[in-house]
Amino acid sequence: MNILVVGGGGREHAIAEAIARSNKNPTMFAVMAKKNPGIAGLCEDFLLVSETDVEKVVDYAKSKNIEIAVVGPEAPLAVSLADALEDAGIRAVSPKKAVAQIEFDKAWARNFMKKHNIGGCPIFGVFTEKSEMDAFIDKVGNVAVKPAGLTGGKGVKVMGDQLPDIEAAKTYAASLLEGDSVVIEENLVGEEFTLQAFVDGKSLAFAPTVQDHKRAFEGDLGPNTGGMGSYTNTGALLPFLVSDDVEQAKQIMKDTVRALYDETNELYKGTLYGQFMLTKDGPKVIEFNARFGDPEAMNVLPLLETDYVDVISAIADGTLADLDVKFSEKATVCKYAVPAGYPDDPTKDSEVVAGDIGDAILFYSSVYEKDGKVYTTGSRAVAVVGMADSIADAEAIAQNALDNIKGDLHSRRDIGTAAVVQKRIDHMKEIRGF
Ligand code: AMP
Ligand code: GLY
Repeated sequence: MNILVVGGGGREHAIAEAIARSNKNPTMFAVMAKKNPGIAGLCEDFLLVSETDVEKVVDYAKSKNIEIAVVGPEAPLAVSLADALEDAGIRAVSPKKAVAQIEFDKAWARNFMKKHNIGGCPIFGVFTEKSEMDAFIDKVGNVAVKPAGLTGGKGVKVMGDQLPDIEAAKTYAASLLEGDSVVIEENLVGEEFTLQAFVDGKSLAFAPTVQDHKRAFEGDLGPNTGGMGSYTNTGALLPFLVSDDVEQAKQIMKDTVRALYDETNELYKGTLYGQFMLTKDGPKVIEFNARFGDPEAMNVLPLLETDYVDVISAIADGTLADLDVKFSEKATVCKYAVPAGYPDDPTKDSEVVAGDIGDAILFYSSVYEKDGKVYTTGSRAVAVVGMADSIADAEAIAQNALDNIKGDLHSRRDIGTAAVVQKRIDHMKEIRGF
């Protein structure tokens, strides 16, 4: 079977690695903007072109007799790549634009949740006019401010973090009104977790819960990033969660998939990513993404015990309910090495040399290969994943590997350490009393 992977980051390297592990002998092809050496090494052939150049991607897929295409990032979904692939007779296991909208239009997503009575929706309002927006900000008091469109996780500002007070919230919100409508939400307080599921339009197969670390520096300080690293626990449940929390989050995602069909008449196929804030009142939805998370894909795909090619075939066929999708019970810790100065003023085009990474798994992300050497681009460069029978052991494997990756790089040593995991547990205890 000829399979196409669209995208050239760490998430797509993890997808490609999961395809390469299949015993169905797939032949892999890739489309990416820059040559990711990890993905290139697993492929029969690849095309270097922008992933949002729909015509070129579809032409390439046709020329390679692709049967199934997996689209990693969100940007191509927002320009209807999945629709165009399907129109060309290529089965896409990523959502069409009408349903991928749940990620790239935050105003649409919130109005959709409200209309369909989906649980976990925070208090919110969508605004195009300043005086109404200011009145709402005053009423809610403590808010998160979001541009409605895609921002790569960088346009959201929250009071108490990036916004010192209500006046700053109003000023920032007003500055966003120029280009877009603005979503104002209650500021949710708690611990964040990610729940990802394979979806065939009707059934969902859930991966273990993951916790990402968005802040650039140790101790959760500094600006937000795409995610500096993430961990999973043995047995699928993060240490600060109880099973009822995850059951509630699963129900929210199941209801969402059903409502997406009711709303759009289009089946949601692919991976649905739920980002939740566990509050004192249970899990609330921060956002949905129409794809795997990056880094979260690199935690869960290596744990996948079911053949990934069977999974994507079942998504395409609509037979996911008949497949027993299993993940290993092990814990994982993923840590990113990013260019020095990332995200505000990153160095670029500096060489990355991966030495002995021991038992870790290495995923190349925003790097490119030139004359056999690997260079940074300015975004997250290389991730390492440790997998073991405890978070602590997985952390040690990942950190040891990271210590042997040389370059003008920065990383967070604290991700997955006992102290940081305990901080999350204590925080949740303080919030809900157990
Ligand atoms: P997003 O771009 O939607 O992923 O948001 C980036 C980050 O902003 C999230 O990871 C959260 O930490 C934070 N955030 C977004 N919405 C809220 C909210 N309603 N309350 C508190 N924090 C939020
Ligand atoms: N790690 C967050 C995301 O992929 O959106």
